[in-house]
Amino acid sequence: MTLDLPKWFDLHTHFRQGPAVPAYVKAHLDMGCAGALAMPNTQPPVSRVSGAAQADGWSIESYSAELNAAGADAFEQLIVPLYLTRQTTAAMIREGAASGRLRACKYYPPHGTTNSEHGLPMDDLIGGEVFCAMEEHGIVLCIHGEQHALSGPDYIDAAQNAETRFYTERMPRLLAAHPKLRIVCEHITTWTAAEFVAAAPDHVGATITPQHLLYTLGHLIQGLKYHLYCLPIVKFQDDRAALRNAVTTAGQTKFFAGTDSAPHTTKATACGCAAGCFTGGCAPQLYAMAFEDAGVDLASTEGKDLFERFLCFNGPAFYGFPASKQRFRLEKAPAQTPLLETPAGPVTPLPLGMGIELSWRISE
Ligand code: DOR
Ligand code: ZN
Repeated sequence: MTLDLPKWFDLHTHFRQGPAVPAYVKAHLDMGCAGALAMPNTQPPVSRVSGAAQADGWSIESYSAELNAAGADAFEQLIVPLYLTRQTTAAMIREGAASGRLRACKYYPPHGTTNSEHGLPMDDLIGGEVFCAMEEHGIVLCIHGEQHALSGPDYIDAAQNAETRFYTERMPRLLAAHPKLRIVCEHITTWTAAEFVAAAPDHVGATITPQHLLYTLGHLIQGLKYHLYCLPIVKFQDDRAALRNAVTTAGQTKFFAGTDSAPHTTKATACGCAAGCFTGGCAPQLYAMAFEDAGVDLASTEGKDLFERFLCFNGPAFYGFPASKQRFRLEKAPAQTPLLETPAGPVTPLPLGMGIELSWRISE
């Protein structure tokens, strides 16, 4: 079986900075990806809209130029959100919107994940002039939805976790204070978040990663497979079922692909584990496997429609750009996870699919 598909969009990924960026971008282009939203938690962060890169931060302009020079100019779309920091002002939002450079901003919970130390608490932003300016100018708010600074026991247990806390305690307040703000709930992992997004107005959508559709905490813990460690962490069976239900509901328009592919060259460190799963080269294959695990027959018209909506159509519609007119093909065939190749040979980071056989491959 071969699926002939429009090229897809990864509306949440990480390309980082430095000499490995061309390899990361190429891995995306090689898997039929027509465009990407490249997250701003670089070192230093993308904390301004315009101007030259400075020691304390890139601008969207300078980081986009860096990515384009590394091959991202081959994408049909490249969106770089502005990292919301204490330096972000309403004037930056207004000017960024007027220049056309600013399309989205990213909320990171302070110290909640990789390179998130520049973030500020959601409570400091709700009702403030930055969110009001974003609301007024139609700028999308991309949210890493986890409550920060929880104690270990509150961070995750059977009854609640940092994400459920955020979606029950913070998100209702955010929507009430900013009813027109366009929001993408990034990499949702729980039943609670899936239900929240499904019940919210149409201008609230969500990205879902392949790992959260495929795996549960049990997969990670069994053998402590730390290449599966990302944040928010993979959750429980009911949560995975709710995510699968969200993406396989006929006619759904709110849920779309965002891999959160995050290249970490060192995962295990002396004081813990770096959060992030790298899915460059294997994301559509993993998504196809997840849809099949969810009971979707990709050979059927209905099944293919569900898959295309999630992978190729809903994201562009939400962000307001056209779906791709280019095509790529996925072929049902056992395949090994591609390793990242550079002129120096294969390099780390190890891809998520490492050690498992993929049941789909990108066909020429
Ligand atoms: O697993 C993750 N990795 N979650 C994030 O929020 C950040 C990302 C990264 O940048 O490595
Ligand atoms: Zn991310």
